[in-house]
Amino acid sequence: MSVKNSIDFIKKKISVYELRIALLLVRTAVPWHIRGMQIKSSNITTITHISDFHLPVSSPIPLRKMLSKRILGWANLKFNRGKTHLREPFEKLLSHLIEQDASICVATGDFVNLALDEEFANLAQTFHSHGFSADKLFCIPGNHDRYTPGAQYRGDFERHFATWLPFPGPKKQYPTYKEVGHVALIGLNTATWRGPIRAAGRLPKRQLHRLTEILTRLSPSLTPVIAMHHPPFAIGTHAVKQYLDGMQRYAPLMALLQQRKAVVLHGHIHVVSDRMVGDVRVLGVPSASNNVGNSEKQLAYNTLRFGPEGLRDATITRYWPKRDTFDTIPLNETARSI
Ligand SMILES: [Fe+2]
Ligand SMILES: [Fe+2]
Repeated sequence: MSVKNSIDFIKKKISVYELRIALLLVRTAVPWHIRGMQIKSSNITTITHISDFHLPVSSPIPLRKMLSKRILGWANLKFNRGKTHLREPFEKLLSHLIEQDASICVATGDFVNLALDEEFANLAQTFHSHGFSADKLFCIPGNHDRYTPGAQYRGDFERHFATWLPFPGPKKQYPTYKEVGHVALIGLNTATWRGPIRAAGRLPKRQLHRLTEILTRLSPSLTPVIAMHHPPFAIGTHAVKQYLDGMQRYAPLMALLQQRKAVVLHGHIHVVSDRMVGDVRVLGVPSASNNVGNSEKQLAYNTLRFGPEGLRDATITRYWPKRDTFDTIPLNETARSI
């Protein structure tokens, strides 16, 4: 080795040592607790939750498709629901949601009103056009998505929203399942066709059995987050209300979820809701399209942040179209148990 080469070699060695020393100085200059926070903040799984869109039907409905329970739903839409469930603020909420760049968004059913193909296709297209790819949305159906026996048995919801329904096998049996960061998303189907004026839900025994198998195999490092349309508790104070609108046989499900640091996300009741059922946090979100003007029901989405230890915090973000503003507050400061 010549003298020049030897000098170059020594210079390179010195610059490597300088770099190492500089890195060491930076590490010691940043306090340990701030370094810890930086690690934690990049180690969070964020889940947003929306539900119950009930968007009005924009095109005329053929008479033959109305000869069913749909005539009642149509009347409700025309004289009641259609006045406050609006497409424009819903789409504004979707645009805002996608900008938040959460790990994934969970949508808990009642996407449409009458389970018409046109309604499903229109909404699926809306999700696509707002940038909700397969990794950004996790769906389950609600009772309005099973509004007629035909829609249920043909699997119309499953056909239109297949992109966002991660069935574990080719048979397309619920629960759906997807792992996202610290969370295992488990989608239950509580929705089934019912006769006129009934919207009650149920969880078939075979779904409960498959859920048991999933939970048995689940890694302890993952928090199970159950997405379901009907809330797993009694709604209202009268048995008639529960029969017409509530979920049957929710007790075995809630018993199964105890001591698993589980979280349940539901829709159906269209109000903000936050309660503990044993040691399970159960969170409901208002409709994502209901510009009704009162804070319990105003259109909103929830945001949940998970770390390795489980759920860290939850907030609700409401959209107020008149002022064109979004406000976010901790969920437990505003929630009302019903
Ligand atoms: Fe609903
Ligand atoms: Fe519902």
